[in-house]
Amino acid sequence: MTEHILTENPDTAPNVRVIRFNRPDKKNAITRAMYAAMTDALQAASADACVHVVVFLGQPGCFSAGNDMADFLAFAREGAMGSEVLDFLTALATFDKPLVSGVDGLAIGIGTTIHLHCDLTLASERSVFRTPFVDLALVPEAASSLLVPRRMGHQRAFALLAAGEALTAAEACRDGLIWRVTSPEALEAETLAVALKLAAKPQGALRIARNLLRGPREDILERIAEEATHFEAQLRSAEARAAFEAFLKR
Ligand code: COA
Repeated sequence: MTEHILTENPDTAPNVRVIRFNRPDKKNAITRAMYAAMTDALQAASADACVHVVVFLGQPGCFSAGNDMADFLAFAREGAMGSEVLDFLTALATFDKPLVSGVDGLAIGIGTTIHLHCDLTLASERSVFRTPFVDLALVPEAASSLLVPRRMGHQRAFALLAAGEALTAAEACRDGLIWRVTSPEALEAETLAVALKLAAKPQGALRIARNLLRGPREDILERIAEEATHFEAQLRSAEARAAFEAFLKR
């Protein structure tokens, strides 16, 4: 358990389970314990018939700064990543109920790629999406190397995932990464309202529609595994270790 991931069913939306990043002093950087807590939260939400929709939220000004850099350095030193990240990505990619997300501010690394597995993402106009994998001597994860080109085409996918170029909320909306842009003040209320609307629909039909739209998951799971092989090899590289150390020594 970790206090850095909070889960609740809001009073106003009892069939909605919110999973919230709660590590604002570290810009919601995600540790192994947080990945494990999110996996548990997804499994609990899947098993609970009262939960119709799951919503990911962060804190004002920050959704998540991505994987914790100290953990990256520890993985590099240990030579392996541990199972928590892959377990979470598998739980996310195979989750069987609608996933909604609301972003206000920073969305870096998995803070961006998590939304590829969500069905409706809202972001405030001050949000920024960035995946500096290559700058850290790493490679894309969460099947982003498969899903982002499908959404945006090669050039925009390359700019985001390989060149590390940032996307504003408006650009992310244009490119199909997110659904709708709001004001920062309205972000949470609008995200919950969208989830509430979904939660009130006939659940059987909604799930079938979701599955039809998402298609089979096999290629996604295969790509997550393929990316993870490269990711782990890169984590052990001298260039990646130097990048993590440089960040942590700033
Ligand atoms: N892992 C661990 N700690 C992180 C972190 C991360 N991914 N991102 C931010 N933090 C920590 C900082 O070390 C700092 O901690 P400190 O106050 O104990 O020194 C705190 O969060 C605030 O971050 P700071 O860098 O001072 O805030 P900022 O507003 O100047 O910049 C970011 C915010 C997110 C742009 C910057 O922190 C950053 O680039 N983080 C790394 C993002 C990243 O590359 N993630 C991995 C993607 S694969």
